[in-house]
Amino acid sequence: METKLEFVRSIESALGVSFGEDGDKVILVALTTSLALIFGLIAFLWKRSGDRTKEIKPVVVPKAMQPLEEEDELDADPSKVKVTVFFGTQTGTAEGFAKALAEEIKARYEKAVVKVVDLDDYATDDEQYKEKLKKETLAFFMVATYGDGEPTDNAARFYKWFSEEKEGDPWLQQLSYGVFGLGNRQYEHFNKIGKVIDDQLCEQGAKRLIPFGLGDDDQCIEDDFSAWRDQLWPELDNILRDEESTPAVATPYTAAILEYRVVIHDSSAGLHENKQLNMMNGNASYDIQHPCVVNVAVQRELHTPESDRSCIHLEFDLAGTGIKYETGDHVGVYAENCEENVEEAARLLGQPLDLTFSIHADNEDGTPLGGSLPPPFPGPCTLRTALSRYADLLNPPKKTALVALAAHSSEPSEAERLRFLSSQQGKDDYSQWVVGSQRSLLEVLAEFPSAKPPLGVFFAAIAPRLLPRYYSISSSPRFVPNRVHVTSALVYGPTPTGRIHKGVCSTWMKNAVPLESSHESSQAPVFIRTSNFKLPADPSVPIVMIGPGTGLAPFRGFLQERYVLKEEGAQLGPALLFFGCRNRRMDFIYEDELTKYEDEGVISELIVAFSREGPQKEYVQHKMMEKAAQIWEMLSQEGYLYVCGDAKGMARDVHRSLHTIVQEQEKVSSSEAEAVVKKLQMNGRYLRDVW
Ligand SMILES: Cc1cc2nc3c(=O)[nH]c(=O)nc-3n(C[C@H](O)[C@H](O)[C@H](O)COP(=O)(O)OP(=O)(O)OC[C@H]3O[C@@H](n4cnc5c(N)ncnc54)[C@H](O)[C@@H]3O)c2cc1C
Ligand SMILES: Cc1cc2nc3c(=O)[nH]c(=O)nc-3n(C[C@H](O)[C@H](O)[C@H](O)COP(=O)(O)O)c2cc1C
Repeated sequence: METKLEFVRSIESALGVSFGEDGDKVILVALTTSLALIFGLIAFLWKRSGDRTKEIKPVVVPKAMQPLEEEDELDADPSKVKVTVFFGTQTGTAEGFAKALAEEIKARYEKAVVKVVDLDDYATDDEQYKEKLKKETLAFFMVATYGDGEPTDNAARFYKWFSEEKEGDPWLQQLSYGVFGLGNRQYEHFNKIGKVIDDQLCEQGAKRLIPFGLGDDDQCIEDDFSAWRDQLWPELDNILRDEESTPAVATPYTAAILEYRVVIHDSSAGLHENKQLNMMNGNASYDIQHPCVVNVAVQRELHTPESDRSCIHLEFDLAGTGIKYETGDHVGVYAENCEENVEEAARLLGQPLDLTFSIHADNEDGTPLGGSLPPPFPGPCTLRTALSRYADLLNPPKKTALVALAAHSSEPSEAERLRFLSSQQGKDDYSQWVVGSQRSLLEVLAEFPSAKPPLGVFFAAIAPRLLPRYYSISSSPRFVPNRVHVTSALVYGPTPTGRIHKGVCSTWMKNAVPLESSHESSQAPVFIRTSNFKLPADPSVPIVMIGPGTGLAPFRGFLQERYVLKEEGAQLGPALLFFGCRNRRMDFIYEDELTKYEDEGVISELIVAFSREGPQKEYVQHKMMEKAAQIWEMLSQEGYLYVCGDAKGMARDVHRSLHTIVQEQEKVSSSEAEAVVKKLQMNGRYLRDVW
């Protein structure tokens, strides 16, 4: 490997061993430690020989050889102040903000010892959360809201504990804090998690340094974050700035452009991409970081040829993988970018697709390149693989990406325009030209042909990592133990610039080749994400399910499970299923199965709203009103109500209908009805799986 120092190679060959990729590091650490020991020993012997009567001191290996841990640094210098930046993220934005904030605090204040902490990694149990939080004196929380006003997966444990009512006196009086929430105004529970954490911290006596930051992803959340951060400096100056140092305004801060170290390999180098597939399948448990590569067993279109849209039924084969799931869980799928976009990206970068390379977050001597670089993807791999699997090419680029592009534009006018778009003055242009017109990263690259970032910059600072997509599993393991079924609507449509946006994962599913038709079937890394969207433990409890379009997915799993239970002799309670589509001749997905389940008594009634059949549009919320008395009766018998599908439109309308049903059926006021609905939610009898 090119990066290995010559002497590392010679040591390896002399010993007949390989230290692997990190050989340089291993040798360097061993060498420096040994040298320090030898010098220490010489000094010690020399001292001893000179003065034998004096107390013998132990040999101390100089500490500078090892990186200082934050705690050590704080112990060593009591004038230092610990700052902790926590993050709760699903798709990485909050983590990016936490790292950017930490870097800027470090750069501005010598006194600060800053640590970025994943909320999940902070503590192993509630007691430890409390003990550790009590010791924090200055902390910031960057937290996103997800699901249906829920915490992100990595904040769930912390949030559950922290938001519970606490008895006793306020216990966070030693803490000064700030919270920046990441959310989207289109969702009903806008920024709920950040708000709750902010309120709770205040309630427990912590001092709010700056008002809660309301990040809105529907607009430019980077601007919201910058504005919030700018309010912070005067407050932090009071705490972290030494009196003799110059005021903050005199030291404008520019974030460094992140860059991986890139090593080019000759094309005969063993590619990691294929090794990785095999290793993953040997893993004991799978999660987002350790997905399992599985085959596509079945793939078929669910719409009829009359439809101008597409919805795919896909089955992943779990046989032999050990993957387990429960009805109602989600599956995370890592798809690949389509060939045409990968080729376009390589062309715009001016690099050949068969270039074999690896990226590294450390220098050749093993020292880290920078705290906020995400872990590199596995390599060596070809540029084709890297662009297919790891680069988000279709989302609009972030402002920080434009800054990085500007730095690598050879044409001054292009660099200037890019810098303007990323600046405060260019805010409106950015919001219209980039976000409003849904300009993809590829489109932006094409508009600035002189921008040719090196691969290390491209993968670190310009193209975010391609993220997995989640799907509500549309099967039950009790019915199909070795399969995960997915029901995926194809994302395909024009954007304001005239580009046809082809959704990454849904397009991959649309083009997937199943084992049924070829031995060379499509494969994807997948993992299961547990959910609380579950049937009642007692199958005789009444249930109402509302799932138009692909919102039907988890209910198909529910029906399969009820079918098995019925076969096993269980007494099933009443079940209503509300489904909605445009037209029965085009997109009435799984029609045969649903009507069969109705005939067999797996559900009591299937109620379908066809939005484009009659003169008036009819949706599931209208059908609910027609069945108001029955729904209320079922809920009054301790029944459950489930909603799945579009969060921004449908779920809100269904919520309003439910509120009206309670109000009318119970003959109560609007606020009393809201209290009833809230109680249903609190008791876990009104569950929503919305996205
Ligand atoms: C918990 C959960 C469960 C889910 N379950 C399901 C499910 O069962 N079935 C299902 O089909 N989906 C489901 N989804 C949605 C799914 O995860 C994906 O978001 C969806 O398949 C689109 O992904 P994609 O990669 O194909 O599209 P992407 O490449 O992610 O593109 C979609 C994005 O592109 C943008 N865009 C630009 N132009 C357009 C355009 N013309 N039309 C639309 N979008 C455009 C939008 O911002 C949109 O967010 C679920 C999501 C979550 C979070
Ligand atoms: C499936 C889904 C559900 C979401 N639910 C909410 C929500 O209930 N409330 C909200 O304010 N924002 C919601 N959001 C918006 C995210 O909080 C927002 O995009 C945020 O920037 C994500 O940050 P992250 O990248 O750190 O995870 C949702 C986003 C998605 C994709």
